[in-house]
Amino acid sequence: MKLLEPLRMNSMTVPNRVVVPAMVTRLSGEDGYINQGIIDRYVRYAQGHVGLIVVEAMAIHGSKSGPLLRISDESFIPGHAALVQRVHDAGPSMIVPQIIHFMKVARSGWRQTIDQLSTAEIDLIIEQFGAAAGRARDAGYDGVELHSAHAYTLSSFLSRHNKRRDEYDGRTLEGRLRMFGKVMTRVRQVVGQDFPVGVRFLAEEAIKDGYALPDSQRIALRLAQMGVDYISLSIGGKFEDAVHKPGQPLYPYTGYSGDRCMPGDSYPPLPHAHLAAGIKDYINGKGFTVPVISVGKISDPADAERLLAEGKADMIGMARQLLSDPDWVKKVEEKRPDAIVRCIYCNVCKQLDENFKLVTCFLWPKGATQAPQDDPSTERPRWPSGVPVLSAATKNGTVQLTWKRAEGSEIVGYDVFRAEDGGPAGIVEAVKAPKFTDRLVLGGLSYTYHVMAFDKSGRHSPPSNAVRLDLPLPDFSAKENPAETSHA
Ligand SMILES: Cc1cc2nc3c(=O)[nH]c(=O)nc-3n(C[C@H](O)[C@H](O)[C@H](O)COP(=O)(O)O)c2cc1C
Repeated sequence: MKLLEPLRMNSMTVPNRVVVPAMVTRLSGEDGYINQGIIDRYVRYAQGHVGLIVVEAMAIHGSKSGPLLRISDESFIPGHAALVQRVHDAGPSMIVPQIIHFMKVARSGWRQTIDQLSTAEIDLIIEQFGAAAGRARDAGYDGVELHSAHAYTLSSFLSRHNKRRDEYDGRTLEGRLRMFGKVMTRVRQVVGQDFPVGVRFLAEEAIKDGYALPDSQRIALRLAQMGVDYISLSIGGKFEDAVHKPGQPLYPYTGYSGDRCMPGDSYPPLPHAHLAAGIKDYINGKGFTVPVISVGKISDPADAERLLAEGKADMIGMARQLLSDPDWVKKVEEKRPDAIVRCIYCNVCKQLDENFKLVTCFLWPKGATQAPQDDPSTERPRWPSGVPVLSAATKNGTVQLTWKRAEGSEIVGYDVFRAEDGGPAGIVEAVKAPKFTDRLVLGGLSYTYHVMAFDKSGRHSPPSNAVRLDLPLPDFSAKENPAETSHA
């Protein structure tokens, strides 16, 4: 399996092709120091054999913010060194920090933009990136990732919304790329040629008049020309379309571009895979083989493998899926893919982040602050014997499912599967209580449902009985909805 093949990136060998991209946890305090909760979160990914662990965005400067990690002076190094040590002790995972510079935002909705920065302030930011990368190396990290995505400083230089008119001129691609060129040059001077430096940037800004693939292909080419060791992609997450809540600083994931950054359950799987493929194809065509990380609603091992096999990506980034189940890689290695706790992209994690609350997963056991440990020895959940457990009824354009509770070890939830017109069954939702209302059914089609219970290790029960419903076309001449029906 290509997914499980190692990949060399400069001086680091990543043991497989799976990356957990940076994901703010809100486990740190406002002081920005590494604490036990942070260590536990990242050790968990290492125990699950994730190839490359990117530690959540951490500030390279002292600007005020909510709870956020920092690497902005020497006092932070011992904490990071302890984190790296614990992750390395847990397994072969590689670990790099994502380092970020961001500008000021106010509760009034005002925000500082890059055209307000003086040349001296820009020079300071360049220095701060170099110094923070040096601290990452000193702490023992395997490399460093420059955050040049979303709404933050480096990304704002790359943006088509860059309003500067000096050497960083937003009207030319070279002007937009100049800040990155200077930062990368400074970082290399500090960390040396052999320390892996990755970059995360936007494959598409996903805002009005923002850039898309034609620009991002060329931005990626410049990153390759500058000798970056991997390119990690993201989409959107901009201030330009963020929705301002009165009294709150702008949060860049509240508008459409925020939806694109963390596509929720209304999006199909792999909505952004074509962007990584387009970028990889372009830079490979120019003779560069720097690894490209694809991201966005990838959760099925078969999909991940296909992207790699078809040359559409070199590595697979999974943020929310690895939050829900950090043992994803281990379960693939052990040929237990059915035991993966599948992310349903409900975005509860995103909402927690937005509200500065501890980022956890809806699919973890109630009250858990970290993903539960994988324990394959537990008894598999089972259904009460001798009776059909699942029944369904139609009502007002919905299908309402109810089922008996499963028995066995700690049941965490139920995956609801639906097949349309005899096609393949896929998970439509995961729920904690034994009921679900499907509001996305269409008259004139037939649907077959079954449910499977899962425990904290992701061990699933056998499928319940299947229930099939043939939904009639609505009667558009009738005043009332058609009569309710029941099925079991
Ligand atoms: C709670 C949360 C926090 C995130 N924090 C960061 C971050 O610190 N840096 C970053 O580049 N992306 C961040 N992201 C974006 C993810 O890395 C990822 O690009 C996005 O969730 C899409 O990938 P997925 O579909 O696999 O979840 C965050 C996403 C979530 C859900």
